[in-house]
Amino acid sequence: MNYYELATKRESTRSFKKKPVLDRQLSELKNYFGECRRLLPEIKTEIQILGAEAYRNLTGCAGYHSFMIEAPHYLLITSSPSDHYLENAGYIGEDLVMKLTEMELESCWITLTNTSEMKMRLSIPEDMEPAALIAFGNATTMLPSSRLDIKSVSDIIIKKRTGFVATKLEVDHAVYTDTWGESAGISALPINSSLYQAFIAACCAPSFLNLQSYRFMLDKDKVLMVTLPDDLTTSSDSRLNAGIAMLHFAGTMENHHASKGGWVLGAPEKQYDIPEGASIDGYYAI
Ligand SMILES: Cc1cc2nc3c(=O)[nH]c(=O)nc-3n(C[C@H](O)[C@H](O)[C@H](O)COP(=O)(O)O)c2cc1C
Repeated sequence: MNYYELATKRESTRSFKKKPVLDRQLSELKNYFGECRRLLPEIKTEIQILGAEAYRNLTGCAGYHSFMIEAPHYLLITSSPSDHYLENAGYIGEDLVMKLTEMELESCWITLTNTSEMKMRLSIPEDMEPAALIAFGNATTMLPSSRLDIKSVSDIIIKKRTGFVATKLEVDHAVYTDTWGESAGISALPINSSLYQAFIAACCAPSFLNLQSYRFMLDKDKVLMVTLPDDLTTSSDSRLNAGIAMLHFAGTMENHHASKGGWVLGAPEKQYDIPEGASIDGYYAI
Protein backbone atom coordinates (compact mmCIF):
# COMPACT_ATOMS: atom_id res chain seq x y z
CA MET A 1 0.00 0.00 0.00
CA ASN A 2 1.17 3.54 -0.67
CA TYR A 3 0.95 4.86 2.90
CA TYR A 4 1.91 8.45 2.06
CA GLU A 5 -0.86 8.73 -0.51
CA LEU A 6 -3.42 6.96 1.72
CA ALA A 7 -2.49 8.90 4.88
CA THR A 8 -2.83 12.25 3.12
CA LYS A 9 -6.08 11.23 1.38
CA ARG A 10 -7.92 9.73 4.39
CA GLU A 11 -10.43 11.83 6.29
CA SER A 12 -13.17 10.94 8.76
CA THR A 13 -16.67 10.48 7.41
CA ARG A 14 -19.77 10.59 9.59
CA SER A 15 -22.57 10.16 7.05
CA PHE A 16 -22.79 6.71 5.54
CA LYS A 17 -25.15 5.04 3.09
CA LYS A 18 -27.31 2.42 4.83
CA LYS A 19 -26.47 -0.15 2.16
CA PRO A 20 -23.89 -2.68 3.39
CA VAL A 21 -20.58 -2.90 1.57
CA LEU A 22 -19.98 -5.87 -0.76
CA ASP A 23 -19.28 -9.29 0.81
CA ARG A 24 -16.08 -9.43 -1.23
CA GLN A 25 -14.90 -6.18 0.42
CA LEU A 26 -15.68 -7.53 3.90
CA SER A 27 -13.68 -10.69 3.10
CA GLU A 28 -10.77 -8.60 1.80
CA LEU A 29 -10.75 -6.59 5.03
CA LYS A 30 -10.92 -9.70 7.24
CA ASN A 31 -8.13 -11.37 5.26
CA TYR A 32 -5.98 -8.25 5.53
CA PHE A 33 -6.23 -8.40 9.32
CA GLY A 34 -4.24 -11.67 9.16
CA GLU A 35 -1.28 -9.94 7.52
CA CYS A 36 -1.60 -6.31 8.71
CA ARG A 37 1.11 -4.35 10.54
CA ARG A 38 1.36 -4.86 14.27
CA LEU A 39 3.43 -2.99 16.86
CA LEU A 40 3.53 -5.95 19.26
CA PRO A 41 2.61 -9.11 17.33
CA GLU A 42 2.78 -11.19 20.51
CA ILE A 43 -0.36 -9.48 21.89
CA LYS A 44 -3.49 -11.48 21.12
CA THR A 45 -5.92 -9.35 19.07
CA GLU A 46 -9.12 -10.21 17.25
CA ILE A 47 -11.53 -8.32 15.03
CA GLN A 48 -15.28 -8.45 14.75
CA ILE A 49 -17.24 -6.82 11.95
CA LEU A 50 -20.50 -5.62 13.47
CA GLY A 51 -23.55 -4.67 11.40
CA ALA A 52 -25.87 -1.66 11.49
CA GLU A 53 -27.62 -3.04 14.64
CA ALA A 54 -24.50 -2.16 16.63
CA TYR A 55 -25.60 1.49 16.44
CA ARG A 56 -28.35 0.80 19.01
CA ASN A 57 -26.35 -1.78 20.88
CA LEU A 58 -23.39 0.54 21.45
CA THR A 59 -25.29 3.76 22.10
CA GLY A 60 -24.24 4.95 25.55
CA CYS A 61 -20.93 3.03 25.40
CA ALA A 62 -19.13 4.84 22.59
CA GLY A 63 -18.86 8.18 20.78
CA TYR A 64 -18.20 11.81 21.69
CA HIS A 65 -20.76 12.65 24.43
CA SER A 66 -21.97 9.07 23.80
CA PHE A 67 -23.16 10.16 20.34
CA MET A 68 -22.79 7.04 18.20
CA ILE A 69 -22.18 7.40 14.49
CA GLU A 70 -24.71 5.52 12.35
CA ALA A 71 -22.99 3.24 9.85
CA PRO A 72 -23.68 -0.05 8.03
CA HIS A 73 -20.58 -1.64 9.60
CA TYR A 74 -18.28 -1.27 12.58
CA LEU A 75 -14.87 -2.76 13.03
CA LEU A 76 -14.21 -3.73 16.62
CA ILE A 77 -10.73 -4.71 17.78
CA THR A 78 -10.54 -6.70 20.97
CA SER A 79 -7.24 -7.40 22.67
CA SER A 80 -5.69 -9.16 25.56
CA PRO A 81 -4.93 -6.32 28.02
CA SER A 82 -1.11 -6.64 27.98
CA ASP A 83 1.29 -3.69 28.30
CA HIS A 84 0.85 -1.24 25.38
CA TYR A 85 -2.19 -3.08 24.03
CA LEU A 86 -3.93 0.18 23.15
CA GLU A 87 -0.96 1.54 21.16
CA ASN A 88 -0.97 -1.83 19.36
CA ALA A 89 -4.74 -1.62 18.72
CA GLY A 90 -4.34 1.97 17.41
CA TYR A 91 -1.59 0.78 15.04
CA ILE A 92 -3.60 -2.20 13.80
CA GLY A 93 -6.85 -0.20 13.56
CA GLU A 94 -5.21 2.52 11.49
CA ASP A 95 -3.60 -0.04 9.18
CA LEU A 96 -7.13 -1.38 8.59
CA VAL A 97 -8.29 2.22 7.98
CA MET A 98 -5.53 2.53 5.35
CA LYS A 99 -6.84 -0.68 3.77
CA LEU A 100 -10.42 0.69 3.82
CA THR A 101 -9.15 3.93 2.23
CA GLU A 102 -7.37 1.91 -0.47
CA MET A 103 -10.66 0.06 -1.07
CA GLU A 104 -12.34 3.48 -1.42
CA LEU A 105 -14.46 2.94 1.68
CA GLU A 106 -14.90 5.70 4.27
CA SER A 107 -14.38 5.41 8.00
CA CYS A 108 -14.38 7.16 11.37
CA TRP A 109 -12.76 6.18 14.67
CA ILE A 110 -15.19 6.13 17.61
CA THR A 111 -14.08 6.62 21.21
CA LEU A 112 -15.01 3.93 23.75
CA THR A 113 -16.62 5.49 26.79
CA ASN A 114 -17.79 2.46 28.76
CA THR A 115 -15.79 -0.66 27.96
CA SER A 116 -17.21 -2.80 30.77
CA GLU A 117 -20.79 -2.22 29.58
CA MET A 118 -19.69 -2.82 26.00
CA LYS A 119 -18.00 -6.05 26.98
CA MET A 120 -21.26 -7.26 28.53
CA ARG A 121 -23.50 -6.15 25.66
CA LEU A 122 -21.28 -7.79 23.03
CA SER A 123 -20.47 -10.90 25.11
CA ILE A 124 -16.73 -10.35 24.75
CA PRO A 125 -14.71 -13.13 26.45
CA GLU A 126 -13.38 -12.39 29.94
CA ASP A 127 -9.70 -12.38 28.87
CA MET A 128 -10.23 -9.84 26.07
CA GLU A 129 -10.92 -6.09 26.21
CA PRO A 130 -12.69 -3.89 23.65
CA ALA A 131 -9.79 -1.75 22.41
CA ALA A 132 -10.79 0.13 19.27
CA LEU A 133 -13.93 0.87 17.26
CA ILE A 134 -14.15 2.21 13.70
CA ALA A 135 -17.34 2.92 11.74
CA PHE A 136 -17.06 2.24 8.01
CA GLY A 137 -19.02 2.00 4.78
CA ASN A 138 -19.72 4.02 1.67
CA ALA A 139 -20.16 7.74 2.24
CA THR A 140 -23.46 9.33 1.28
CA THR A 141 -23.35 11.20 -1.99
CA MET A 142 -26.79 12.80 -1.61
CA LEU A 143 -25.62 15.08 1.21
CA PRO A 144 -22.21 16.64 1.47
CA SER A 145 -20.26 14.67 4.05
CA SER A 146 -19.55 16.36 7.34
CA ARG A 147 -16.47 17.36 9.27
CA LEU A 148 -16.18 18.21 12.91
CA ASP A 149 -15.57 21.82 13.80
CA ILE A 150 -14.08 21.48 17.27
CA LYS A 151 -13.94 24.67 19.31
CA SER A 152 -13.94 23.01 22.71
CA VAL A 153 -15.25 19.76 24.10
CA SER A 154 -18.66 21.31 24.78
CA ASP A 155 -18.78 23.10 21.45
CA ILE A 156 -18.45 20.55 18.69
CA ILE A 157 -20.35 21.32 15.54
CA ILE A 158 -20.77 18.87 12.72
CA LYS A 159 -20.41 21.06 9.67
CA LYS A 160 -21.41 20.29 6.13
CA ARG A 161 -18.21 20.18 4.17
CA THR A 162 -17.62 23.43 2.33
CA GLY A 163 -13.94 23.02 1.70
CA PHE A 164 -13.46 22.78 5.48
CA VAL A 165 -10.80 20.28 6.35
CA ALA A 166 -9.70 19.42 9.89
CA THR A 167 -6.57 21.48 10.40
CA LYS A 168 -3.48 19.42 11.13
CA LEU A 169 -0.16 19.96 12.83
CA GLU A 170 2.31 21.65 10.54
CA VAL A 171 5.42 19.61 10.09
CA ASP A 172 7.77 22.43 11.18
CA HIS A 173 5.80 22.87 14.41
CA ALA A 174 5.52 19.14 15.03
CA VAL A 175 9.10 17.96 14.64
CA TYR A 176 11.87 19.25 16.89
CA THR A 177 15.58 18.56 17.02
CA ASP A 178 16.93 16.93 20.20
CA THR A 179 16.21 20.31 21.83
CA TRP A 180 12.55 20.64 22.75
CA GLY A 181 10.86 23.50 20.83
CA GLU A 182 13.61 23.89 18.20
CA SER A 183 12.16 23.08 14.76
CA ALA A 184 13.99 20.35 12.84
CA GLY A 185 13.13 22.21 9.60
CA ILE A 186 11.55 19.17 7.95
CA SER A 187 9.80 21.29 5.29
CA ALA A 188 13.21 22.07 3.77
CA LEU A 189 13.75 18.38 2.90
CA PRO A 190 13.03 17.16 -0.64
CA ILE A 191 9.32 16.34 -0.92
CA ASN A 192 10.00 12.84 -2.17
CA SER A 193 12.36 11.99 0.71
CA SER A 194 11.31 9.25 3.11
CA LEU A 195 11.63 11.44 6.21
CA TYR A 196 9.65 14.34 4.78
CA GLN A 197 6.83 12.06 3.63
CA ALA A 198 6.80 10.03 6.87
CA PHE A 199 6.43 13.16 9.02
CA ILE A 200 3.75 14.63 6.74
CA ALA A 201 1.87 11.32 6.98
CA ALA A 202 2.22 11.35 10.80
CA CYS A 203 0.89 14.93 10.90
CA CYS A 204 -2.20 13.83 8.93
CA ALA A 205 -3.11 11.16 11.49
CA PRO A 206 -6.61 11.17 12.98
CA SER A 207 -6.72 11.86 16.72
CA PHE A 208 -9.28 12.27 19.50
CA LEU A 209 -11.06 15.61 18.85
CA ASN A 210 -8.28 16.32 16.32
CA LEU A 211 -6.19 17.65 19.21
CA GLN A 212 -2.97 15.91 18.07
CA SER A 213 -1.39 16.28 21.51
CA TYR A 214 1.96 14.92 20.46
CA ARG A 215 5.21 16.03 18.89
CA PHE A 216 8.27 14.32 17.44
CA MET A 217 11.96 14.79 18.13
CA LEU A 218 14.63 13.98 15.56
CA ASP A 219 17.90 13.11 17.25
CA LYS A 220 20.44 12.04 14.58
CA ASP A 221 19.13 8.64 13.41
CA LYS A 222 16.38 8.38 16.01
CA VAL A 223 12.79 9.68 15.91
CA LEU A 224 11.02 10.00 19.25
CA MET A 225 7.30 10.31 19.70
CA VAL A 226 6.31 12.49 22.66
CA THR A 227 2.75 12.71 24.02
CA LEU A 228 1.81 16.01 25.68
CA PRO A 229 -0.53 16.28 28.66
CA ASP A 230 -4.04 17.24 27.57
CA ASP A 231 -7.09 17.66 29.83
CA LEU A 232 -9.59 16.42 27.26
CA THR A 233 -8.02 13.21 25.93
CA THR A 234 -8.22 10.18 28.21
CA SER A 235 -5.14 8.02 28.66
CA SER A 236 -6.79 5.30 26.51
CA ASP A 237 -7.44 7.68 23.61
CA SER A 238 -3.89 9.13 23.96
CA ARG A 239 -2.44 5.66 23.58
CA LEU A 240 -4.65 4.91 20.55
CA ASN A 241 -3.61 8.29 19.06
CA ALA A 242 0.06 7.37 19.52
CA GLY A 243 -0.35 3.99 17.80
CA ILE A 244 -2.24 5.63 14.92
CA ALA A 245 0.45 8.29 14.28
CA MET A 246 3.20 5.65 14.61
CA LEU A 247 1.49 3.60 11.88
CA HIS A 248 1.37 6.56 9.47
CA PHE A 249 5.07 7.24 10.11
CA ALA A 250 6.31 3.64 9.89
CA GLY A 251 4.14 2.66 6.91
CA THR A 252 5.41 5.64 4.90
CA MET A 253 9.08 5.18 5.92
CA GLU A 254 8.94 1.49 5.08
CA ASN A 255 7.55 2.18 1.61
CA HIS A 256 11.01 3.72 0.98
CA HIS A 257 13.25 1.28 2.87
CA ALA A 258 12.98 -1.54 5.38
CA SER A 259 13.37 -0.67 9.04
CA LYS A 260 15.78 -2.36 11.44
CA GLY A 261 13.25 -2.83 14.17
CA GLY A 262 10.36 -0.40 13.65
CA TRP A 263 8.98 1.43 16.67
CA VAL A 264 10.31 0.46 20.08
CA LEU A 265 7.80 1.37 22.78
CA GLY A 266 8.90 3.35 25.85
CA ALA A 267 11.74 5.85 26.26
CA PRO A 268 15.36 5.32 25.13
CA GLU A 269 18.18 5.41 27.70
CA LYS A 270 19.26 8.95 26.82
CA GLN A 271 17.50 11.63 28.87
CA TYR A 272 15.61 14.37 26.99
CA ASP A 273 14.41 17.67 28.38
CA ILE A 274 10.68 17.49 27.60
CA PRO A 275 7.81 19.48 29.19
CA GLU A 276 6.49 18.42 32.59
CA GLY A 277 3.81 15.76 32.23
CA ALA A 278 4.91 14.81 28.69
CA SER A 279 6.08 11.26 28.02
CA ILE A 280 8.09 9.49 25.33
CA ASP A 281 5.80 6.83 23.81
CA GLY A 282 8.44 5.22 21.65
CA TYR A 283 11.35 5.70 19.30
CA TYR A 284 12.17 4.61 15.76
CA ALA A 285 15.63 4.09 14.26
CA ILE A 286 15.80 5.55 10.74
C1 LIG B 1 -9.05 7.63 19.39
C2 LIG B 1 -10.04 8.41 18.57
C3 LIG B 1 -11.35 8.53 18.97
C4 LIG B 1 -12.28 9.22 18.17
N1 LIG B 1 -13.59 9.27 18.56
C5 LIG B 1 -14.51 9.88 17.75
C6 LIG B 1 -15.89 9.87 18.10
O1 LIG B 1 -16.30 9.28 19.09
N2 LIG B 1 -16.77 10.51 17.29
C7 LIG B 1 -16.37 11.16 16.13
O2 LIG B 1 -17.20 11.72 15.44
N3 LIG B 1 -15.05 11.17 15.77
C8 LIG B 1 -14.12 10.53 16.54
N4 LIG B 1 -12.80 10.51 16.17
C9 LIG B 1 -12.40 11.10 14.90
C10 LIG B 1 -11.70 12.44 15.10
O3 LIG B 1 -12.62 13.42 15.56
C11 LIG B 1 -11.06 12.87 13.78
O4 LIG B 1 -10.05 11.95 13.46
C12 LIG B 1 -10.47 14.25 13.90
O5 LIG B 1 -11.48 15.21 14.07
C13 LIG B 1 -9.62 14.61 12.69
O6 LIG B 1 -10.35 14.61 11.49
P1 LIG B 1 -9.90 13.69 10.29
O7 LIG B 1 -9.99 12.26 10.77
O8 LIG B 1 -10.88 13.98 9.18
O9 LIG B 1 -8.48 14.03 9.93
C14 LIG B 1 -11.86 9.84 16.95
C15 LIG B 1 -10.52 9.73 16.56
C16 LIG B 1 -9.63 9.01 17.34
C17 LIG B 1 -8.21 8.84 16.87
